Parts: sequence; structure tokens; C-alpha cells
Amino acid sequence: MQVAVLGAGLMGHALALVHALGGCRVRLTDTHAPTLARAPALMSAALATLREAGETEHGDAWLAGAVTTHADLGETLKGAELVVEAITEDPDAKCALFEKVDTLAPAGAIIASNTSYLDPFPLIPAARQGRAAIAHWYTPPYLVDLVDIVAGPHCAPSVPLRLRDLYAGMGKRPIVMRKFVPGFIANRIQAVVSMEVYALLDEGVADASEIDAAIIHGLSLRMPLLGHMMKADFTGLPLTQKALANAMVPPPPQRKRSEAIDKLIAEGATGVASGRGFYDYKGRSPAELFAERDRKLLALKRALKQIGSMVP
Ligand SMILES: NC(=O)c1ccc[n+]([C@@H]2O[C@H](COP(=O)([O-])OP(=O)(O)OC[C@H]3O[C@@H](n4cnc5c(N)ncnc54)[C@H](O)[C@@H]3O)[C@@H](O)[C@H]2O)c1
Repeated sequence: MQVAVLGAGLMGHALALVHALGGCRVRLTDTHAPTLARAPALMSAALATLREAGETEHGDAWLAGAVTTHADLGETLKGAELVVEAITEDPDAKCALFEKVDTLAPAGAIIASNTSYLDPFPLIPAARQGRAAIAHWYTPPYLVDLVDIVAGPHCAPSVPLRLRDLYAGMGKRPIVMRKFVPGFIANRIQAVVSMEVYALLDEGVADASEIDAAIIHGLSLRMPLLGHMMKADFTGLPLTQKALANAMVPPPPQRKRSEAIDKLIAEGATGVASGRGFYDYKGRSPAELFAERDRKLLALKRALKQIGSMVP
């Protein structure tokens, strides 16, 4: 399949790599020349991580043939059967781009936006509505398999199914949602978890490592096997129903900021990039820490694949 990836930033370059690894021919563009120029090196570094983990045998020579970069949008869209939109999260920018795509892309091309929170469908010209969808990925998309697929309101039913089959064929885990909601599923759940976590932290109930211990050793241990809905079946639905009504655990109040985060930022502790955040990384470089995270994520994914989830 011929794919055009529009935007070569944090997500775009990685999405170009993912589609290439999935067997597509990819053309990548960005209006910011230095970003486009940097993309091959970033893809090469990600490819090296996958190669070291035994996930691929492809090297840089393959990459240079599988993903080409183009400053010109028309050239990028030449022959495109799938247009992956991964530009800045700005409705005006996306709207202007979709108008150009309408004039330049082949008539049958599927448009798949990677937007995180915007509803992209009102921004897409009428002529393209029949093949307009969202395919929303998580970073880094070459390690996180979830892809949220949402058909636009006037999209042909075959389009989300085609995207689902394409990404499932690449070993990803696409889910087809019935309608668009900002943040999709995983980010919405994570937002609620964040509210509770920062309430517990700011109210001094526990420190950061105790909260993480509760998440790692309690909450999330069962999740890869049971998800949330099957866990409710194991708990028993009457008890699950009672827990929903339990006034002891009210929903956390909406908060726009955390005092604990304010304090750390004021100290220059901004996270992995500065060597300290909630944790002290003891002089280890961000590159080293990201590489360790990626190696461990790959090992965890392999173990989970071997064990198998109980959720069909
Ligand atoms: N960062 C994430 O974790 C993440 C995850 C899922 C989805 N997304 C979504 O993916 C999209 C891209 O996010 P990002 O984090 O890669 O942003 P980014 O800022 O890293 O990259 C966006 C790129 O788009 C380029 N661009 C802007 N207008 C353009 C145009 N008209 N044509 C071509 N390129 C153009 C910019 O120069 C920039 O390099 C956003 O819609 C975002 O919400 C991001």
C-alpha cells in the first residue's frame, strides 16, 4: 500500500516507520525543513532499538528505500492510497492542509487523522468525507500496539474495517470505536487516574513511589490479563455495582494543576529530560533511560504475548 504521512514530528516520523515495517511504501513530508531533515536519523535510531531486540532485521539501506522524504505536498501524495495526517494539533492548520489534500490526493485515498483531542471531521472537505477516519496512535507507535479507529459521520463502513485489517495485519491492536469522543478510551481513563493520583499526592496520603507501587503491584498486575470489564466479572457484578455507589470513594475533584508538580518544576526537576522529576535519575542520560524503557517494554510485550490475555 502507498502511504503519505503528513507531519514528521514526534509522531509523524515514527508513524512513517511503523507503516514501512508493516510493508507499506511511505512518503513523508513536513513544512518545517529541519524537522523533515531530522526524520531519517530518528527513524534509524528507532529501527536500531527494534533490531537489537530481535524485532526486525531491517537496516538503514532498507529504510532509505521504504520511506522517502519530500518537501512538496503534491509529490508526497502521489499515488497515495492512505493519507496519515500527523501535523500540529491546531484546527486551522489541519483544515488548511485537508483542503490541499482534497485537491492533490488521489480520489480514492483514505484520510486517517492521528488527532488526539480535536474532532477532525468538520475540518475535512465534503468530497473526502466518504473516506475520512481517525487512526489514533500512542507514542512510541512502534512499541505501543493500540490504534483507535473512528469512522467519520459520512464515512463508508468499509473504511474503518480496511484500516482495522491493515493494522491487525501489522501485528497492532486496532479497536473500532462507534463514535468520536475527545481523548478516545485509553487517554480518558488515564485522565481520571491522573486526577486521583495528584489528589492523593497533594493531600499527602502517600508519596510518589508508594503511589507507583500501588499501581504496579496492585492495580495494573491484573490488567493485562483481565482488562477492566473481565475483572468486574471476576469480582462479581453485584459487588461491582455496590462499589460504584460507594460514597467512601467519591470521584476526585477536577484539578487544573498539582502542587507537587509546581514545586518540582520550580526546582528545575522537570522529569527524565532534566535528570530529576518525581524520581532522581542519578546522572543517567535521557537517551539511556528511554533505551532502557524501550528494551523493557519489548520484553514485557513478549512475555504478555507468551502468557496470553484472558480477554478474547
Ligand atoms: N505526541 C503524542 O504523544 C501524540 C500521540 C497521539 C496523537 N498525537 C497527535 O499527532 C499529531 C502530531 O503530534 P506530534 O506530537 O507529532 O506534534 P509535533 O509538533 O511533534 O509535530 C507536528 C509536525 O507537523 C508539522 N506541520 C505543521 N503544519 C504542517 C503542514 N501543513 N504540513 C506538513 N507538516 C506540518 C510541524 O512542522 C511539526 O513538525 C497531533 O494531532 C497530536 O495531537 C500526538
